[in-house]
Amino acid sequence: MIILGEIIAVHSYKGGTGKTILSVNLAATLVKHGKNVCLMDLDFRAPSLSTIFKIEKAEYWLNDYLNGTCEIDKAIIDLRDRFNNESKLFVGLANPATEAIREMSAKDRKWEMRALGRLLALRHSLLNDKDFDYLIFDTSPGLQYSSINAIVTADLVIVVTTLDRSDVEGTRRMLRELYDLFEKKTEITVNKVLCASTKSGKDEVQTKIKEIYQAPVLGMIPCFCEVSMAEGAFIFTQEKPDHPLTKILDEIVKKIENNKA
Ligand SMILES: Nc1ncnc2c1ncn2[C@@H]1O[C@H](COP(=O)(O)OP(=O)(O)O)[C@@H](O)[C@H]1O
Ligand SMILES: [Mg+2]
Repeated sequence: MIILGEIIAVHSYKGGTGKTILSVNLAATLVKHGKNVCLMDLDFRAPSLSTIFKIEKAEYWLNDYLNGTCEIDKAIIDLRDRFNNESKLFVGLANPATEAIREMSAKDRKWEMRALGRLLALRHSLLNDKDFDYLIFDTSPGLQYSSINAIVTADLVIVVTTLDRSDVEGTRRMLRELYDLFEKKTEITVNKVLCASTKSGKDEVQTKIKEIYQAPVLGMIPCFCEVSMAEGAFIFTQEKPDHPLTKILDEIVKKIENNKA
């Protein structure tokens, strides 16, 4: 049986939950596990990947691809040389220029519908034709049209939440009213968890999370001062292979690979 690639959207109710950190480290870990990955910044309101990968200027951005002014191969950048790996990592960037952000926030529904068509076309152009195993979409929080398009396109939605009450309530609502509506395979990752360093603390939090969300839990990530202190200046799992976060990401990737098979 031929197993084609998978599209993963990383989404959340609130901002700052850790979607970008998770997307980047998930991509790096999948590459380490021998997968070909294309990571895409679909957070057009607050683009981050250009800063994280230190790419100031791109000939084409994902904005151009969604606008229909270039094909996808022009809007993705090959980062293989930075990863010293057999498998490939490409990245598609959202244009961080203020003008571009304003322009993307002003798009109408008709444009968004066409953009959805272009996102859906990636399954063919990147997964089938270019042999990527995974496309990872880093999205804007909440119910932005662009995030809904990303969710509609995805095979798996990873919802990143904290245990902050407003985040928990909002995430619960989205589980019932958004992801279920589209019948999406949805898995929760709880980030910035306190007291998850001991086994009993971890079990307690895990039970609580399952009760709260009634949805599968993909992973639980403690609040790590080192992650905050890194200030997004490097790719954590790549620079710190022995850090607990790297081990958690390895476990998450194993689960994703097993689910896909
Ligand atoms: N597990 C963690 N421990 C400590 N800080 C974290 C953790 N995950 C994310 N952060 C910090 O939270 C902030 C928001 O993360 P980011 O990935 O940009 O969130 P989002 O993309 O959801 O807005 C960043 O400063 C990041 O360093
Ligand atoms: Mg982000």
